[in-house]
Order: sequence, then structure tokens, then C-alpha cells
Amino acid sequence: MTLNNENILLCLSRVNDPDIKKDLVTLNMIANLSVEGNTVKFDVVLTTPACPLKDKIKNDCIYEIKKVFPECEIKINMTSNVLGSSKKEKGGLLAGVKNTIAVASGKGGVGKSTVAVNLAVALALEGAKVGLIDADIYGPSIPLMLGITEKPQVIELGDKIILLPIQKFGIKLMSIGFLVEDNAPIIWRGPMASGALKQFMSDVEWNELDYLIFDMPPGTGDIQLTLCQTIPLTGAVIVTTPQDVSIADARKAAKMFERVNVPILGIVENMSYFIAPGTNQQFDIFGSGGGEKLALETNSVFLGKIPIDPAIRIGGDNGIPVVYDRPDSSEADIITDIARKLAAEISLSNINTNSQQNIEISLDD
Ligand SMILES: Nc1ncnc2c1ncn2[C@@H]1O[C@H](COP(=O)(O)OP(=O)(O)OP(=O)(O)O)[C@@H](O)[C@H]1O
Ligand SMILES: [Mg+2]
Repeated sequence: MTLNNENILLCLSRVNDPDIKKDLVTLNMIANLSVEGNTVKFDVVLTTPACPLKDKIKNDCIYEIKKVFPECEIKINMTSNVLGSSKKEKGGLLAGVKNTIAVASGKGGVGKSTVAVNLAVALALEGAKVGLIDADIYGPSIPLMLGITEKPQVIELGDKIILLPIQKFGIKLMSIGFLVEDNAPIIWRGPMASGALKQFMSDVEWNELDYLIFDMPPGTGDIQLTLCQTIPLTGAVIVTTPQDVSIADARKAAKMFERVNVPILGIVENMSYFIAPGTNQQFDIFGSGGGEKLALETNSVFLGKIPIDPAIRIGGDNGIPVVYDRPDSSEADIITDIARKLAAEISLSNINTNSQQNIEISLDD
């Protein structure tokens, strides 16, 4: 067989993206292919820089090419172009933002903000462009968790106002907390809260983002429902602790998203277990298995379990998320793994909905 582009593509058509379960050539993931002498060069354009199986895909490419051309030299550049959700663009808001994800729970205090912050920073560390909106009208805690004391800059352009998001740890942030005075109680009503969120979507200079994460207020009442309807959401991540009372509330949150046709991208179980220092002994303080049960019930993916760990709480209190402060720790590994699974799930969801829409469009024609 001759070493040329055509035959290399034939080899690469035997490599599947393990998440999407189609081959790289069909998925248009091979770019800039060239064969010069004995050297084969190409880019693999992944659907997210946080691809969980990046190394496997690269090794599979080498394996399939070497099987046919054992002598050739292979140079692969792994890159990415995050897929956007076509559903999201209907409202015209957030035109440069490819995906919008709500992090929600039914019950308060289960670690939504901790999970939202760490997932956002983990995705940014993987190379994605990430924004975070703290939409928690009851207790906007994200500025504290990211050690932010300043307020966003406001620029007036004629009669238009532009807000510049705060940038830290590689992500862009806006918070409901920036709109209220410190410690001042404020009673939000639905239209007021959705008005503030709309302003975050229309007046903030987000530019291009791969993922914009919304930390939602706890609960499943009218106000939360209104917020879910205000944001053009790609999907939602539900955070729960393992015990029944939390699962019961998380189930309500899942139902709320179902009602407004927002897919559940996955379930995260937080405060799942505690490893006693120096003993390696695991204590399931809040029970176990609740998150997996909920994932089964809601027909969604179980993204993973985060242990109770003082380093996670300290990261929140000190304003440096654990994934940034201690990137080599086991907690950071666990959260990064969840972020990668979530990114893969978003890609899959977009491939499915986008192809569904193409079918609908061609049926309409
Ligand atoms: N896995 C964990 N290990 C240790 N501490 C944690 C963990 N997850 C969250 N915490 C701590 O628990 C507290 C509550 O977490 P967080 O504020 O993220 O919850 P929340 O669901 O956003 O709460 P609310 O419903 O009030 O918005 C914080 O002090 C946080 O640092
Ligand atoms: Mg919170």
C-alpha cells in the first residue's frame, strides 16, 4: 500500500471516538493531513479540550497507521473546537457562548457553588474558554470562593452599558453579589431576579466562551423555574449528597428541568465519603449510592463522587479553588475527571440534538 493521504484516512477511519462511537474521519475530526517522504502529519480536532480519552485516541491513531505503515514517522497535533448547542441560540442571547450549563440542587448547602467553581476552573485548566455566573439570589458566595473583592468595571457607550466580567484563575465571572451591598439583605422577586440574569447575558462582555456555567439558587420554587426559563440552557448538572433527603430534593430539581425541556447532563454526588487521615479507612457519613440511584432514575450519566475533604472547604474559604491550588491532589484529580466527563456529555448531547435538528430540517424541506 502506498503511503499517501487517502490510505492514511483509510487507517484513521478505523479509529473511533470512544464517547461518540463513530470514527474520526466520519466525524470530520482529521485536519491538515500531509504526507511528506516518510512523515505523516495531521491534527485531531476534538469536540472539547477536556476530552477524557485524548491519549487513547492519539494512541489508537498511531496503532492503526503503524499496522499498515510500520516504518513511517507520525506527528499528531491534538487540538479542539468545542461544539456548540444549536438549541441555545434560539433566544439570540449569548451569541458567542457555545454552551450554557446550570449547576443546581434541590437542597441547599450540598456544595453546588463549590462544584460549580471547581468545574469551571478545571475546564479552564484543560484549555477551554469558561465563564461563570453566580445566580444565587439567596447567598451569592462565588466572589468569596474565588477571593474576589473588586466589582466589575462598567463602561458607558452612548446609551448602552457594558459590564466587564472579573477574570481570575483563567475564568470570567459575574455574580448577583456584585449588584448588592455586602451583607445587606435583599428580597428578590422573580421578575427582578430574571431581569438581573438577563442583564448578565445581554450586557456583559463575555466574547467567545466554550462553556458558561450558572450556579443556581437552591430550591425548586417559582423563582428557580423562572430563572431556568430565562437562560437558554444546553443542560443541567444536579448536585446531591448521598442521603435520601437530599436525593428527594434533587429529584424535584430534575423534574423542574424536565418541565422546561432542559436535558440533565449528569449527576454529581458531593460529600460522598470521608477518608480518615493516616488510616485510608472510608466512612460513608451520609450513606452511599444515592447519586447513582438518581442517575438511573433520571436516565442521566453519573459523573462521579467527590469526598468530604477539608482541602475542598479550605479552598472555598480561602478563595483558591482546590483544583487550582492543589492540582496534583486526589481531590483535584476527581473533580477534573468529572469536568472531562461533563465536557464529553455536552459534546454528545450537541451531536445528538444537532443531528436531530438536521433531520427535522430535511424532513421539512
Ligand atoms: N466535598 C466537600 N468537602 C468539604 N467541604 C465541602 C465540600 N463541598 C462543599 N463543602 C463546603 O460546604 C459548604 C457548603 O458548600 P457550598 O456553599 O458549595 O454549597 P451550596 O450548595 O452552594 O450552598 P447554597 O445552597 O447555600 O448555595 C462550604 O463551606 C463548602 O466549602
Ligand atoms: Mg451556593
